[in-house]
Amino acid sequence: MSFDLSVIPHKNIILAVTGGIAAYKSAILVRRLKDFGFDVRVVMTHGAQAFITPLTFQALSGNPVHTELLDPEAEAGMGHIELARWADLVLVAPASCDTIAKFANGLADDLLSTLYLATKAPVWVAPAMNQQMWAAKATQRNLQTLVEDGVHVIMPDAGEQACGDVGLGRMPEPEDLARQVAAYFHKAQRAIAEKFGLLAGKRVTITAGPTREAIDPVRYISNHSTGKMGFALAAACYAAGAKVTLVAGPVSLDTPNGVERINVKSAMQMLDASMNQLEEGCDIFIATAAVADYRVAEVAEHKIKKAGDELAVSLVKNPDIVATIAQQQQRPFMVGFAAETRNVEEYAAGKLVAKKLDMIACNDVSRPDIGFASDENAMTVFFAQSYHLEKRELEKASKQEISQQLVEAIHDALLQK
Ligand code: C5P
Repeated sequence: MSFDLSVIPHKNIILAVTGGIAAYKSAILVRRLKDFGFDVRVVMTHGAQAFITPLTFQALSGNPVHTELLDPEAEAGMGHIELARWADLVLVAPASCDTIAKFANGLADDLLSTLYLATKAPVWVAPAMNQQMWAAKATQRNLQTLVEDGVHVIMPDAGEQACGDVGLGRMPEPEDLARQVAAYFHKAQRAIAEKFGLLAGKRVTITAGPTREAIDPVRYISNHSTGKMGFALAAACYAAGAKVTLVAGPVSLDTPNGVERINVKSAMQMLDASMNQLEEGCDIFIATAAVADYRVAEVAEHKIKKAGDELAVSLVKNPDIVATIAQQQQRPFMVGFAAETRNVEEYAAGKLVAKKLDMIACNDVSRPDIGFASDENAMTVFFAQSYHLEKRELEKASKQEISQQLVEAIHDALLQK
């Protein structure tokens, strides 16, 4: 079983521990589940507490352990119904004969059996017991009922048992169980992505191109940005199932299929249009625009006439659009770009923090073969520290291919949220 460990979605797992000697393995199971980034809450039956203490699980999971159904104090925190709703998956490991029998018959006389009835989450059981108890007709009958009820039964391993018997009934190793859970979410995520696209249903706003800062009615200050990267990204996001709005500075590019375009000229207009998008609903904001850092302090009402050998134009700083959006309370996932000519990675990492971005894609525009007007690009992508994702090197490729890889990077980061 091999898959990229960094792209397991963030999920909540209830690990239910029941009475059996294999309960000691569940302590390690908590650690392995947390290694995959899962949030783990442990529920223990009374039987389990004869083998291992709740304190062990509390320390390992970092969450309070749930043991009682009718404990007013526990119910005041996270009650059994909330717990049932919190779970993305309930894993019962080890699952005793008694618990399996309760599940099969719909009993609800303790926290775990009640939780089983109250949750909509998938339930997995990992039976662990003496080989004779495993083979008993009643146990097999109950397991059959569970399978028919939609419970996933993880087959026990064969081997030497704590009681000295040899046969089926050992709980699989914690590493193996944790990997099976991770693979389940990974596969589910892949299936959704393949069917609907990596950014299905997401609302994306992209700023692109240069801005034009007027000096007088006929002249302006601008830069060489062509908007190609932003337009290619808009097409890639749309192809990935997103609803895309391009806030475009003055560029001569066709609007990609399916993308809404809002044309702007100045940085102030770009900021206004971007803020409007935020109000309308935006999940991902991607700032590819080469926004002019300064605008003319006082735009002349009429064409400035030629006079004298020198002309002084006073400039004032433009707002930083991406940083302004990142400061809003209901902020989208923020992606910035950085074009640098030296110390590329160092400057980009600094901007990621200073502008409070989630992700930044940077490139070295001093390289003659990539960048502004080129059809190709090569980038390094950094994620904010909280995502625990390694930086990614996107090798030189067409802006379309780079866009596809950026969509994947955004998708992977969103999974960690
Ligand atoms: O600070 P610098 O201009 O290098 O930052 C680049 C990033 O910030 C890009 O994502 C760019 O679109 C964004 N930016 C912005 N508003 C500005 C300046 C830059 O959104 N005024």
